[in-house]
Amino acid sequence: MIEVTDLLDRLERYYDVVPRSRADVEKLGPFTLFVARAGWPYYARPRLGASDFTADDVRRVLDRQCTLGVPQSVEWVHETTPGLLAAAEEAGMSVQHCPLLVLYPDQLPERPDPEVARILGPEDDVALRQSRAAVSLGFRDPGTDVGEEGIAERDALLAAEFAEPDVALDERIADGSFRAAAAWLVEAPALGAVGGGGHTPVDDVTEITGVAVLPRFRRRGLGALITAALAGDALESGVDVVFCSAESVDVARVYQRVGFRRVGTACIGEAKLLPTSTE
Ligand SMILES: CC(C)(COP(=O)(O)OP(=O)(O)OC[C@H]1O[C@@H](n2cnc3c(N)ncnc32)[C@H](O)[C@@H]1OP(=O)(O)O)[C@@H](O)C(=O)NCCC(=O)NCCS
Repeated sequence: MIEVTDLLDRLERYYDVVPRSRADVEKLGPFTLFVARAGWPYYARPRLGASDFTADDVRRVLDRQCTLGVPQSVEWVHETTPGLLAAAEEAGMSVQHCPLLVLYPDQLPERPDPEVARILGPEDDVALRQSRAAVSLGFRDPGTDVGEEGIAERDALLAAEFAEPDVALDERIADGSFRAAAAWLVEAPALGAVGGGGHTPVDDVTEITGVAVLPRFRRRGLGALITAALAGDALESGVDVVFCSAESVDVARVYQRVGFRRVGTACIGEAKLLPTSTE
């Protein structure tokens, strides 16, 4: 049985540590603002232990993000920081409520057939770039429905945006601080990777992120297999808390089918507001 309060504390510490290797960090009242030096831009989160938030506190963060030219984005766990929701909404943010899920290890299925879904190593450069293009297309077509885009579209995006290796990502894969997985079609592995995802272990906690499948090849079990490959890898390397947040209850079902259970709600607040002050 997982003790939820202790678990949420561990997740909060994880959330506070992960961005620090890639981001500059600013303290802004009850918030910590992470500003990525490169790559995905990050967000502000509640400072560890902070519990009181006003709309003005939120506006100060949004102003700062506007000044820096980064997205006006704040993320938090509702059960850990319940006071933030009303303040964020009062400050004009729209808030997405995402199921926060944790793996019950005894409910994880067997590791998938590696011909279909497996962890990538530094030698898997082509598969990594194929899977990144597939994931990128996957996120452009959110939800769990089957869609049109397949191999041709993946290869066009690969040539346009993923032709060059990403040196920083390659280093993280080589040193184990990021673990990437990819999936292939069982009947046509030569077509290359059609989906993927990753996890970022820090001590004994990891979050699974960026799981997506090319729209044309959805609803045949690949999303679940990618998740199972990542979760199995995490447990094998000594992690004992594997978690993720799902964009919707439909996506959450994919994770629940491989042993994840909902423990809370991850809030993603976004805004497009002009500065309210001249600070
Ligand atoms: C979420 C996502 C990764 C799921 O990928 P997927 O490969 O379609 O996932 P699965 O095939 O394992 O499961 C999806 C559905 O297909 C069903 N399914 C699985 N195998 C099947 C099969 N052989 N035949 C018919 N249906 C099948 C599952 O039961 C599930 O059904 P449900 O919606 O009723 O729960 C994919 O939809 C996606 O890329 N979405 C956009 C990106 C995204 O939102 N990612 C998650 C971010 S949190």
